[in-house]
This record gives sequence, C-alpha cells and structure tokens, in this order.
Amino acid sequence: MAGKKTFYVTTPIYYVNDTPHIGHAYTTVAADTLARYKRLKGFDVLFLTGTDEHGQKVEKAASAAGITPLELADRVVMRFKELWKKLNISNDDFIRTTEDRHRIAVKRLWDEAVGRGDIYLGEYEDWYCTPCESFLTGTQLEDGKCPDCRREVEKLREPSYFFRLAGYRERLLTHIGENPGFIRPEARRNEIVSFLEEGLKDLSVSRTTFSWGIPVPDNPDHVIYVWFDALANYLTGAGYPGKMESWPADVHMIGKDILRFHAVYWPAFLMSAGLPLPKKVFAHGWWTVEGRKMSKSLGNVVDPFEIAERYGVDQFRYFLLREVPFGLDGDFSVSALKGRINGELANDLGNLLSRTVAMVEKYRGGEIPRGINSKDKEMEKNIRSRFNPPSGPQIALFDEAMNELRFHDALWRVWELIRGLNAYVENSAPWNLAKTKDEATLSNVLYTLTEGLRITSVYLFPFMPLAAQEIWNQLGIKENIEDCSFDNEAGWGGRDISGLKVKKGASLFPKVE
Ligand code: ME8
Repeated sequence: MAGKKTFYVTTPIYYVNDTPHIGHAYTTVAADTLARYKRLKGFDVLFLTGTDEHGQKVEKAASAAGITPLELADRVVMRFKELWKKLNISNDDFIRTTEDRHRIAVKRLWDEAVGRGDIYLGEYEDWYCTPCESFLTGTQLEDGKCPDCRREVEKLREPSYFFRLAGYRERLLTHIGENPGFIRPEARRNEIVSFLEEGLKDLSVSRTTFSWGIPVPDNPDHVIYVWFDALANYLTGAGYPGKMESWPADVHMIGKDILRFHAVYWPAFLMSAGLPLPKKVFAHGWWTVEGRKMSKSLGNVVDPFEIAERYGVDQFRYFLLREVPFGLDGDFSVSALKGRINGELANDLGNLLSRTVAMVEKYRGGEIPRGINSKDKEMEKNIRSRFNPPSGPQIALFDEAMNELRFHDALWRVWELIRGLNAYVENSAPWNLAKTKDEATLSNVLYTLTEGLRITSVYLFPFMPLAAQEIWNQLGIKENIEDCSFDNEAGWGGRDISGLKVKKGASLFPKVE
C-alpha cells in the first residue's frame, strides 16, 4: 500500500509431527497481539505463521502412523488452523513448506548461496539429534545425549553439501555489535555472542539418508537440510523471489529453543543471498506446567483448545501475556489462571463495566450523558494529561512496552487506568449524587466512567479482541473496534460517546470457582 508503513511479524513454523499445545499458542498469541496493535497504529501489517512439514522427524512420525508425510501434515495443519481460529489469531497468511511457492523460494535461496561460492560438496560425519533436527559435535553431547532434549543421538556419515558458515563469524559479530536490538532480550544476545566467539564450523545443509524434503537443485540424491528449508519460509511469506514489500521482517518471534538457528544460521544465509537481515529476533522463555517440564510421557501437555473452551479465549490470551514477563520462563497452573480471571479480569474490569452500564441505565435511562460539570474534572484531567496522544506519558510508556515486547508491562499500564477508574467510582459515589440530586456532577461521573472504559478498550483490543469489542457493544458504539485508529481513539475525547444508548450484556468475564 503506497505511503503506509509496513510491519512484518512472524512466528516459528511449527512441526507437524506433534499437535499444538500451550507453547505454540504462546508465541502465536504474542505475535497476534503485536500484529493487532500495529494495525491499530496504522501499519500495513503482514503477520505470518505456518507449518514446517519436511525432514526426517516428520517422515518418521508419518511412517509410525502408517500414512504418508503429506497426509500427516494435512491432518495436523487442520488442527493448527482450527486452533488459530479459536484463539482469534489474525494471521494474514499461513505458510506450509510443502507449497510450490516455498519450494521456489528455497531453491532460489540455495542457488544464491551456490552463486556466492558458499556451498560445497563434502562428507559429513557427526552426531545428529532427530527430534531437534540438529547436528551436534562430539563435544556438544552431554553423557552421549543431545544437550537440548536429552535424547539419544545417531552417528551419521554421508556425502553432504556444506554451507560456509565459518566465513560469516566476523560479519555476524559485527552486525550484532552494531545492532543492539537485533537479538532480544539481552541475555539471549550475550548467549549468541559467546557462541560465536567460540568459533563456527561450516554447516551441513543436505542429507541423503531420507527423501522427505526439497531436493538439492542439480543433485536430487540430496534433500535440503530442514532448517535451511524452514527458515526460508519468512522470505516466501514476503514474496521472495518476487518483489518484497515487507522485507526485512520487523520481528521474528521464537522460543529460546531455536535461537541459534535464527540468530546465527539464518542471518548467514541471508548475507549470502545479499538480503537485508530481520530487524529483530526475540526469543521468549519456556513454559513449564504446574512446576514440571511439559511432556507427552508425563501426560501434562496443556491443550490450548481445552483451556480456551473452559476458561475463555481472551482469558487465556490475557493470562499468557500477563503472567510472565516476555522473555523469561514461566509456569502454567490452573490456580494462577483462575486467580487472574477472578481478580484482574472479573473484579477490576468486568465489574467496572457492568456497574457503569447499570448506573447509566438506572440514572440516565440508558443514555450516556454529556460530561460538562466543572466540579468533577480531576479524573478527566488525569486521563487527558497522561493518556492523550501524542505526548501523554502513559501512552508513550505503553507504546514503548509494546515495541519492546514487554507485554506484561503494557498491560500493567492499562490496569493503572482501570484501578484509577474503580477508585473514582468509589470516591465519587454516584449513588449519593443521585440521592442528593446533584445531576450535573452525576452526569459528569457517568460520562467519565464510560469514556474511561472506551479508552481502556482501545488499549486492550490487541490482547483481548473479543472483550474489547464487547465493551464497545455495551457502550452502544456500533463500529468495529478493529477499524479504529489507536492514535485517534486512545485518549480522552477520541470519540464522542455522549448520547449513545448503552446495552447491558452478559458478564464480560464470569468468575470461575
Ligand atoms: O522448532 N514454552 O517447531 P516446533 C514456550 N519447526 N514456547 C514453546 C514451548 C514451551 N514449552 N514449546 C514450544 C520448530 N514452544 C521448528 C521451527 S522456524 C523457521 C522452524 C514454541 O513445533 C516456541 O515458539 O518445535 C518454540 O520456538 C516453538 O514452539 C517450537 O515449535
């Protein structure tokens, strides 16, 4: 779109040998929240997610299930797509690595590396961890096992193409040094710097022992290493090798498990192809469940469908981003989820809405009054000075928190407003104003509360799109909140709601026992 700034955010593309769980939901909800925020801010957003369908791991899982890899992929892709629909994920595209557009992109990226002299045929002999699809040197093994997943590794010896990764070490270090925002958070950046400082070996980028993958151009005995294939999805999604409006990506959101692939291999492949690097790779932390590592064998894998079904989609989205500072590890527990639902969501926000709507009905026949009383302007002044764009300090802190992916912090800023509004109800005691017939002040209080809720809903929309829309519905605003402009609407007076008819609805966040 001419004149509009683009914003490109991605999630990892998930393997299709497993069904989606809370970890996948986490990254995707986070990326969705950022994508929604950037759309409200007027960006032309490309939000990409998808599935990683090639490789030995998928081939093995399919053969164990007695079906072809593509049949397995088709099946699991449906599960992912259903989950994203359920969780209200607004991805603009869904990439599958088995698609033709992707094969074309991968071949092109490969050819660029060949053209640059970065790929040569050699022989590979080393350890390979199939569950991680990752090559390991003898020194990386711990007790003879994969240091990441602690499972058995296999010895592989085969002809293999190599990518001249070692030659990119200096350039990578320079890039990381010059771009402090490239790898976030800081601890992860330090990890990659140390890894690079230890030295880099060339990377094996093809395999001959199985066939489920994209063949190496001109030598179909080899398939392209699944990570070379998978990482290229970010380019495919941007239109590579055609014209790319959205490249470089603004953020690759990933879990810390796959940081090295994104912060070392991927930038090297891109440099080889002469393409700009993504602006940011953000590696978030790891979820455990009720204090334990999540695993099939423990039977404690959290099914996001079930949680969303039982506790609500927005409740789940809120919990994921509020419970743990993005970047740190966290623990999922049902009691923590319930605590947040009953406390912050039901008590603080849900109650505020239902009380406000009820009072507008009771005292003003359901019509939001004009707020013109000058005796009661403290709250309004407070909101105006802190929240109004472009320079209100609170809106600036919110924007900064969103841009740095400190989602919990952004939410905390909104809760300051919500808590302020709750205190304001108590202090201004509209029920007393009704008794004493101080109609002007009462109108002002009711206007302030409805306007405060409207502003709150704009901030919350990226996190909880359904609840934010429901606030608009109950305030009698007819438009879709997703079509609004953050900069116009996130401050006092961003929309004149006086005269609108409120509409009492179901409880925004029912309490859970
Ligand atoms: O790695 N806590 O796919 P994958 C937090 N196909 N996040 C978690 C998590 C947990 N316990 N478990 C999974 C792959 N995740 C490759 C990616 S990208 C070019 C290729 C999330 O299905 C987190 O985002 O194993 C992690 O990076 C991702 O799922 C791994 O998904």
